[in-house]
Amino acid sequence: MMWLPSLTILSCVLSAIASSIDERTAIPSDILFQLTPKLSPTAKILLPSSPLWPNASQRWNELSRPTYSAIVQVTNERDISESVKYANLHKIPFFAFSQTHGSYFGLERFQDGLGISLSSLTRKIDLDKSGKWATIGGGMKSKDVLEYLWKRGKQTGTGGCGCVGAVSPALGGGHNWFQGQYGLIADQVLEFRVVLADGEVVVVNDKKHKELFWGMRGAGHNFGIVSEMKYKVYNVKEPKWSIETFTFKSERLEDVYKYANKKLNGKGDPRLLMWGTWFLNPAVDAEKPIVQFQWIYNGPLVELKKLSKDTHALKADAYSSVEVDYPELSPSLGYAADQYACQTDGQGNRLLRGIDVDQYDVKALRRWYDAYAATLMKEPAFQTSFCILEGYSTQAVQAVPDKSTAFALRGETLLFAPAIFWGKGNATLDEKARKWSREMYLAASGSSKKKSYVNYAHGDEPVEALYGYEAWRLEKLRQLKKEYDPRGRFSFFNPVNPVSRKHSEM
Ligand SMILES: Cc1cc2nc3c(=O)[nH]c(=O)nc-3n(C[C@H](O)[C@H](O)[C@H](O)COP(=O)(O)OP(=O)(O)OC[C@H]3O[C@@H](n4cnc5c(N)ncnc54)[C@H](O)[C@@H]3O)c2cc1C
Ligand SMILES: *[C@@H]1O[C@H](CO)[C@@H](O)[C@H](O)[C@H]1NC(C)=O
Ligand SMILES: *[C@@H]1O[C@H](CO)[C@@H](O)[C@H](O)[C@H]1NC(C)=O
Repeated sequence: MMWLPSLTILSCVLSAIASSIDERTAIPSDILFQLTPKLSPTAKILLPSSPLWPNASQRWNELSRPTYSAIVQVTNERDISESVKYANLHKIPFFAFSQTHGSYFGLERFQDGLGISLSSLTRKIDLDKSGKWATIGGGMKSKDVLEYLWKRGKQTGTGGCGCVGAVSPALGGGHNWFQGQYGLIADQVLEFRVVLADGEVVVVNDKKHKELFWGMRGAGHNFGIVSEMKYKVYNVKEPKWSIETFTFKSERLEDVYKYANKKLNGKGDPRLLMWGTWFLNPAVDAEKPIVQFQWIYNGPLVELKKLSKDTHALKADAYSSVEVDYPELSPSLGYAADQYACQTDGQGNRLLRGIDVDQYDVKALRRWYDAYAATLMKEPAFQTSFCILEGYSTQAVQAVPDKSTAFALRGETLLFAPAIFWGKGNATLDEKARKWSREMYLAASGSSKKKSYVNYAHGDEPVEALYGYEAWRLEKLRQLKKEYDPRGRFSFFNPVNPVSRKHSEM
């Protein structure tokens, strides 16, 4: 406990430095009187004394979280704009959020500012008469978009977990089950309405603010607050999805991923996804986490089984299969809005990472697995932590010209995600989790240039890992930043101009 006082002093010094840099001031005590008349009658300003505060301020991840002195629950675009103007006038930092799953560790730099909560925007979703696109509100949940469209015989890319925002993933690219068929979530966007750093509202598409449109699709959280977007949707042609689950003891890891590599190199079917998860499953292995390999297929199970004949030849230790309609796909995989991975109860710390690669490096996977298993088996507090090996189909992603959006990782076929889950309130565990996560990250990324999907990034990666190693990409993003957000108001979530970074972490 010796280190506690010095840590407190350090954080005081740090916040003093931060104050002088940002010229920030505290939220005026009469915020209710000043801001309320500018907002719509349905908007709410919450203070920490409000009974609604715990729910309004809780996040999926309570570690490295932003803190607020007040939260505005905006209900329309004008409320967003007025809140931004108010914050600027009083030199208060502001921070917009929708479904609160963002877990970038730099979020903790946002302290005691004005939170702008988008989940109460009354703008939800409307399908256009053409049936080709819908308008989606900036605070919607993926699940609600999916269900609305499904009822109308439509579908499109939304977050694999029903609980995440519908717009937020798009800003960083947006992985989804339909990637092979339609592309990234960002690839579906026809137009954004954006509240800029000064509170001005602009329409952004391939004609208006064209360069910003480029930047919003891959680095969008750097430039403004999206109040709504127009978004491509498609007719449901094949409602069925099938999953085959092959579970192996970890001794088979090399066999599994050597096989998986061969399948990656094939021509592939845009409706076929390759998925993997490592987790504790004592029914199959009481000693160590298991290696689960899954095929996810947009079509009936009989068709999938024709494609997976040679997977059966691997002789898994356990096997199961299921065929469902699309809305049941995420729940069948454990990713429903009310399932464990999604939960936002204000009690949980999580540490998520993304590692993008173009093939399974079997040796690196073994090092990653061993690092994962060693700590998992020693620390009961971490026992629900898991690792995901996401292998989306990429045909339609790669059909979009690489330079046409700010999303820089179109060439990568696999996204690895170690996800540590534990309870909040134990600094020893927090430190252990940080070390463990970094150890897994270094092992999994192998030796090549590191790449990390921005929406899974932790914050200690090189900025090029998120936004691209080609120099022109960051130059262009930084030019846009100068133009649209010269004072860096949108710099708390994966900023293109990282504020500070410890050298030891790079
Ligand atoms: C359980 C889980 C499942 C996930 N599944 C997927 C997935 O399938 N595909 C995928 O691509 N990613 C996925 N992610 C990553 C996800 O894209 C990010 O965590 C995303 O930031 C979550 O959005 P949110 O609305 O829940 O979070 P928030 O924390 O509310 O938003 C994250 C950040 O996005 C910005 N933001 C949010 N809304 C707006 C807006 N309207 N305008 C401007 N900026 C905004 C803000 O900077 C905010 O800090 C998942 C993450 C988790 C934890
Ligand atoms: C808590 O907040 C979320 C939005 O963040 C909302 O969907 C939910 O209904 C709220 N729960 C309660 C009990 O108010
Ligand atoms: C924190 O976690 C560690 C490791 O599990 C444990 O030994 C310790 O007792 C915990 N501390 C508290 C205060 O719960």
